[in-house]
Amino acid sequence: MNSEIAKKNNVTWFNGYVTRKDREQVHGHKGAVIWFTGLSASGKSTIAHLVEKELHKKGCSTYVLDGDNVRHGLCSDLSFRPEDRAENVRRIGEMVKLFVDAGIIVLTAFISPYLKDRRKVRSLFQYGQFLEIHIDCPVEECAKRDKKGIYEKAKAGIIKNFTGISSPYEPPYSPELVIQSYKEDAKAAAARVIELIEEYKILNRTLEAKK
Ligand code: ADX
Repeated sequence: MNSEIAKKNNVTWFNGYVTRKDREQVHGHKGAVIWFTGLSASGKSTIAHLVEKELHKKGCSTYVLDGDNVRHGLCSDLSFRPEDRAENVRRIGEMVKLFVDAGIIVLTAFISPYLKDRRKVRSLFQYGQFLEIHIDCPVEECAKRDKKGIYEKAKAGIIKNFTGISSPYEPPYSPELVIQSYKEDAKAAAARVIELIEEYKILNRTLEAKK
């Protein structure tokens, strides 16, 4: 726990009687974050939802968090300036930490363009709890796929600070997986994500015995 925050805010961390491992036993798998990063319209949400569908069929407890949705509520006060994107990703990081503690497999689909912000989220987790997936797609291809017309508006300068047009995207150096969504179809990509999840033994039904 962060003792400085505890002191400043006069708060104490309370550990419940039921642990993450206990919850994971009930779910029959480990809690984890599958963090998709990439440009708008690169295919993050589509692949995340296909992966969720497969995991759900396998009886897993899952949830998808999507940029556009979260910005309707929890992060509706944030803009797309770098400091607000950092805050967006920080809040989501704290939220997914709670999901993992609840023993759930959470899939996130946020542009999350900055290396530093994604690294901070990764640092909240143990090895194997946070799998970063780069959805790599050239900006011209994303603009072609865009159904919302936002690339057009960004090119015309109507939307400012638009990722890939007037704001940078920093790809991860060593993500757990790279998907070139302009070459690979979404179903094949989702199957590779499932393989990755299996490789990291997140779906292990024989979890460590309760201590
Ligand atoms: S992030 O950069 O802070 O991670 P987030 O994933 O939450 O972004 O939101 C991205 C979505 O917001 C895009 O898919 C798009 O629909 C919308 N959007 C609106 N303005 C912008 C902008 N300036 N840059 C990127 N996306 C934008």
